[in-house]
Amino acid sequence: MTSDRRLTGPRLDESDAATDGNGDGHGSNLAATRVIAAPSTQPQTRAANPLVQMRLGIFGTGYAGLVTSVCLAQLGHTVTAIDKDPEIVASLSQGRPTIHEPGLRELLTANIEAGRLKFTTRSADAIDGSDIIFVCVGTPPRSDGRADLCQVEEVARTIAPQLDGYKLIVEKSTVPARTARWITWTIRRLAGPEREFDVASNPEFLREGTAVRDFLQPDRIVIGADSERARSLLLDLYKPSFDCPIVLTSVTTAEFIKQTANAFLAAKISFINVMSDLCEALGVDVATVARGIGLDPRIGGSFLNAGLGFGGSCLPKDLSALITVAEENGVDSAILKEVQRINTARVERLLAKLERALWVVRHKVVGVLGVAFKGNTDDIRGAPSLSVVPWLRAAGANLRIYDPAATPRLKELYPPDDRLVYAESACEAATGAHALVVLTDWDEFRSLELERLRSVMRTPIVVDGRNLFKPAAMQAAGFEYYSLGHGDVAPSVETPRVEV
Ligand code: UGA
Repeated sequence: MTSDRRLTGPRLDESDAATDGNGDGHGSNLAATRVIAAPSTQPQTRAANPLVQMRLGIFGTGYAGLVTSVCLAQLGHTVTAIDKDPEIVASLSQGRPTIHEPGLRELLTANIEAGRLKFTTRSADAIDGSDIIFVCVGTPPRSDGRADLCQVEEVARTIAPQLDGYKLIVEKSTVPARTARWITWTIRRLAGPEREFDVASNPEFLREGTAVRDFLQPDRIVIGADSERARSLLLDLYKPSFDCPIVLTSVTTAEFIKQTANAFLAAKISFINVMSDLCEALGVDVATVARGIGLDPRIGGSFLNAGLGFGGSCLPKDLSALITVAEENGVDSAILKEVQRINTARVERLLAKLERALWVVRHKVVGVLGVAFKGNTDDIRGAPSLSVVPWLRAAGANLRIYDPAATPRLKELYPPDDRLVYAESACEAATGAHALVVLTDWDEFRSLELERLRSVMRTPIVVDGRNLFKPAAMQAAGFEYYSLGHGDVAPSVETPRVEV
């Protein structure tokens, strides 16, 4: 079935839930299911919908895979997550998360102890007897911009010979539209015509840093399924636990919803960044403009923070992949390419401001605050720091770098040396610096004691790539302050300034 149909929370009424149906007139497809009460910790539990406890296999324990595994176990399901790396499996099995994600450690430990969650390197453990298998492996960008689907194909090839009765295989990884068809063909070729399985799409909309909350309190759930059986199984999985709109659609539509969502978020950020450049030219504050337009519900206030633009492992990659999908289908991709071009230029704009402030960068000490692609994560994939740090090193600066969580990741790429020091605090990074550049929106930076910061710096110059500070407050504290859309200010004339 390929027609799109939207169900909202309120329309999934209690009478639906009282039966074993799914609120959509479809019966459950689980032959032997155990109905238990949903865990009391569930934020959106629908009491009238008894939980259909399922056995789930999850391929991949990266950001999406690990959060999905832990949260599905938290909902009461029995989860076996597989990763090829024995060290990752050992660490997770001992309750040690391999990523920095608020709230994850507690749920990981609790669900391992409750016997609902285990990790393995053996694919059979995740496949045998499972009702649903989720594909959460990486889909990194290839050099030509397309998504690299090698790992997805490998999972399909792994599952095919091990099918033991009907299986629902669900894409969670972000993949280009129509990837499910390739998974289906791959499994069908290898498993033979008699094996029963479906491939569905259930994209995740998790943000790093708030992924656990996003999973447990979703704003919507998208279920893309082309058979009643697959759709019904996924409704059984989610409906008892969540009271949010559920978008039921075809597999291809669900795949495309995910790509479109990330492209739209990227476009919103690039749009506000162009406006922020105009704001600087006009002498107005981009944050006020964002608030002024964001209160219009047609526009919405989120994702209007101007600054260094979007990084991470998702938005840049998914935008590139969508551009190639558009091109392959003969559709004009100019708007998407412009979003990408504007984003790439953000780091150049920041560096131009830094160079203007310092005049000569060589031999200057530059403090770098934040290397993660955004606050509350240790992820540096696609982070501005990966462009800024090498540029500053090539320009001959001496760097003092601090990030509350992501330093170890950057250290692997840039070990400390006589021109690169990793600091233990923001203040330590600022000590003796000719300038401080802010690359990540960690809350910790917002609440820095400005007087103290200025007192340890050699020259009080701050180039703020995330617009964390108020220009007036920075000026009052004696800083020369450069932002991306908030305006640039010099210190008051009477402010004492220590020269080099
Ligand atoms: C993004 C989406 O927001 C999620 O919905 C999606 O599930 C996820 O990708 C994914 O595809 O897996 P994430 O990459 O974790 O999540 O990070 P975002 O919160 O979207 O931030 C992306 C980048 O945009 C960051 O570098 C952030 O600093 C930047 N950003 C965000 C801005 O520059 N301005 C804003 O207003 C918001």
